[in-house]
Amino acid sequence: MHYNDYYKDVRQGLKQWYSKHARDLPWRVNTNSYGTWLSEIILQQTRMEVGVKKWFHIIASFPTVKHLADASEDQILKAWEGLGYYRRARFLHKAAKIINTNGEFPKSYIEWLKLPGVGSYTAAAISSISFNEAVAAVDGNVTRVISRLVGLKDPVNNSKGSKKINNIAKLLLDIENPGNHNQAMMELGALVCNPIKPKCHACPISKQCISSNNTELLNKIPLKVKTKKIQDVDLMWHLVRYKKFIVTIQFPSDGIWGNLWGFPNNKPSKDYFLKRRPLKPVVHLLTHKKIHANFFMWEAINKQALNDYAASINGKVIPVYDLKQLAMPRLITKHILPIISTL
Ligand code: ADE
Repeated sequence: MHYNDYYKDVRQGLKQWYSKHARDLPWRVNTNSYGTWLSEIILQQTRMEVGVKKWFHIIASFPTVKHLADASEDQILKAWEGLGYYRRARFLHKAAKIINTNGEFPKSYIEWLKLPGVGSYTAAAISSISFNEAVAAVDGNVTRVISRLVGLKDPVNNSKGSKKINNIAKLLLDIENPGNHNQAMMELGALVCNPIKPKCHACPISKQCISSNNTELLNKIPLKVKTKKIQDVDLMWHLVRYKKFIVTIQFPSDGIWGNLWGFPNNKPSKDYFLKRRPLKPVVHLLTHKKIHANFFMWEAINKQALNDYAASINGKVIPVYDLKQLAMPRLITKHILPIISTL
């Protein structure tokens, strides 16, 4: 069989399957650049179920790109809360301002690529889905589908392997219908060609797939070279308060929690504060980090001591009750705010 026929068969199998099995995702109804862009940024690092809920929430809070551009960074970080990886929210805000100033959304893959937070996968997904530009979008799901399909022996996370995957993705692309084709590839990876126990019996392209029903190959492919291991990070945060007031600080913009709010790591002076007790340490996992967060509770001897301490560390004194209005890392909103709010 000629290679072209092989690609054509894969394309057709996918197309038919997708017309029956596409999930009912909100941005697939009345597809437009704003909704598609937002969905792709959210889904870069978030599971579909959570992503859909947050997509509705963010669209309701900022119905147009102008609303997003005009909002404060704090409002956006607050709306993003729970999704983690807050760099995405800051990039979204920056990009919204650029789009708003330009007066229109980018009209090509190359133009999308210039915006903060938009890499080649995201630019290809948005431009193929929202205005049918013929570019192949290759994410983790697509990489798994293609590497298994052709039985790729190269690791997919080095440049040789990823180039091969990208070339095959281009050959497979349905240039008449690139948006649906790209989504069909992702959908197949998400629903059928799962990392563990793929459902080859339900796969529309199993006939064309080298790894189909071959457990040994399926467990091995996609092959990956080892990347750096998870790093342990120990943190000590001080909850410094006087009656119903507490000191908060904004994290530096270049760290993991850039511009979110949290608690200082500066130990208060024993002359003005009574150390109450340590709280139960919290262990929190990020992609490449295991955070061990320790907390100490301190009570100031008077309000002046609290204000002086806050001023000395560039912090802010706020009523404990208002903490929930600040955008904070999930590790704090989940484990610490419930404790503080009972004080
Ligand atoms: N993952 C990221 N974007 C997606 C989309 N448009 N459809 C399915 N899965 C996705």
